[in-house]
Amino acid sequence: MSLPQSRHPLRDLRVRLRHAGRICVFSGAGMSAESGIPTFRDAQTGLWARFDPMQLASAEGFRADPAQVWDWYAMRREGVRQAQPNAGHVALAAYARRHPGRLRIVTQNVDDLHQRAGCAEVIRLHGDILADRWLDPCAHAGAADAPVCEVDPAAPDARPPRCRHCGNLLRPAVVWFGENLPYDALTAAEAAVSEADVLLVVGTSGSVWPAAGLVARARHAGAHVVIINPQATEIDEEAHLVLSATAARMLPRLFDPL
Ligand code: OAD
Repeated sequence: MSLPQSRHPLRDLRVRLRHAGRICVFSGAGMSAESGIPTFRDAQTGLWARFDPMQLASAEGFRADPAQVWDWYAMRREGVRQAQPNAGHVALAAYARRHPGRLRIVTQNVDDLHQRAGCAEVIRLHGDILADRWLDPCAHAGAADAPVCEVDPAAPDARPPRCRHCGNLLRPAVVWFGENLPYDALTAAEAAVSEADVLLVVGTSGSVWPAAGLVARARHAGAHVVIINPQATEIDEEAHLVLSATAARMLPRLFDPL
């Protein structure tokens, strides 16, 4: 049941934000679209329109062709490094600096643009594309004085780098399809949305779970839920207000100069 729409939704939302004790922003790939980082599901331009997610964003796909997946992430990492935070990231970081402790950011994004804009505490549900981790536990784990995995210094640029002791492969430190979200991040995200007076859902299709479930959780906990997205999403019915707008244009209008 959606509330009767106000005749001045932006003005009313700014009043609500001004008086909110806790604001949570839940962001997806659309948050970084105006920084030049492709989304996943936008028609034609999204990554999944051009690449097979099961082949490139799953452990099975990585094991089948480690070099191909490693190279694909290397291309995406370069895109992230070249990108700059957009006006939406900047508006959120400026608000967080003016009102310490009042804004929590939960992101599905694996880029670092919220952080580079100046938001120190970001809850990252799907990991960090600029970081690596080992694919498997070390084969020597548990053995007495076993060496820990380390990249083979004779082949630092291998695609992917391997452990010099056990042949373990480095992989991007992101959540792949079929993998669990980091427990601590999901727990922190559930708390952040449950405590929020206002939840702004920015730039997500709401099509990937359990992250998408955070929006209903917020609503059931009493948050005023607002979706900011130029397109309809799978979770629009959870929102009290849907603003058909982009992140870089709408967030400064809402937060500057609250
Ligand atoms: P999607 O690509 O599924 O959705 C991006 C959303 O952003 C769409 O609803 C677009 O309409 C919207 N959008 C596009 N440009 C925008 C803009 N300038 N401002 C605001 N919104 C805009 O991306 P996500 O919902 O983030 O999983 O996808 C969720 C997860 O699916 C990702 O985290 C990734 C992917 O597989 C992992 O990495 C584990």
